[in-house]
Amino acid sequence: MTLERNIKIKNYINSLFVGEDVEFKKVKAEGMKESIPDIHVPSNVGKLLSLLVRMKNPQRVLEIGTLIGYSTSWIASALKPPAKIITLEKVERHSEIAKENLTRLGLVDFVEFRVGIALELLKEILQKKEAPFDFIFIDADKQNYPKYLELCLQLSQPGCVIVSDNVIPKDPEIGKASENDADAQGIYTFNQMIATNPKLTSIIATTIVGDKGRVDGIGISLVS
Ligand code: SAH
Ligand code: DHB
Ligand code: MG
Repeated sequence: MTLERNIKIKNYINSLFVGEDVEFKKVKAEGMKESIPDIHVPSNVGKLLSLLVRMKNPQRVLEIGTLIGYSTSWIASALKPPAKIITLEKVERHSEIAKENLTRLGLVDFVEFRVGIALELLKEILQKKEAPFDFIFIDADKQNYPKYLELCLQLSQPGCVIVSDNVIPKDPEIGKASENDADAQGIYTFNQMIATNPKLTSIIATTIVGDKGRVDGIGISLVS
């Protein structure tokens, strides 16, 4: 289903607010060369991320799901030294391309790339008692979103902003996942958690993504 009106709204918003840098476009092109899935955030979400980062001015950022560094680039472009972003990715080749991309953009000094299974890397950060984060972007495998949230809460300092991508699953039915859809189940459980956890004040901002005008959501949570 193509939602013409949504496409027009998305294009309108982008034309007003999202001046995507030529260099950022190259970041996406790098991924396309090796047929890496084209599942980075859309440019409007990139702009939203960079704006939230500028508002918060975080010192320690965590990203779960690097892919080829497109969202990392938007976030890093909004950081001020000595702030750092640690970004987690299970596919080594993705992380390598991301590093090349961030280097080309002159942003690599902001970024620490870690390769591995995110749940394991997060537990390692906890065990090593690394300093807590004040901005977190969750954007990896959807079925693990509830576990990511639990660990991220342990890794957050008060005032931390937790942003989560793709919190409106693609299924036609809204608010309830079908039995065999582990990703949608993960997302709906996660949404329930950010809505009801007394330590969090949250909202889902709807976004229009892709070339068919699909509505998705970005979770935004403030840790108290
Ligand atoms: N944030 C990126 C997109 C991430 S796509 C952007 O917007 O530009 C999701 C990424 O998470 C993929 O690269 C995938 O390899 C990675 N991923 C999936 N499951 C993972 C896991 N269990 N641990 C670490 N990374 C994972
Ligand atoms: C898809 C999109 C995403 O932003 C993501 O993180 C994972 C998958 C998708 O469109 O399939
Ligand atoms: Mg995503």
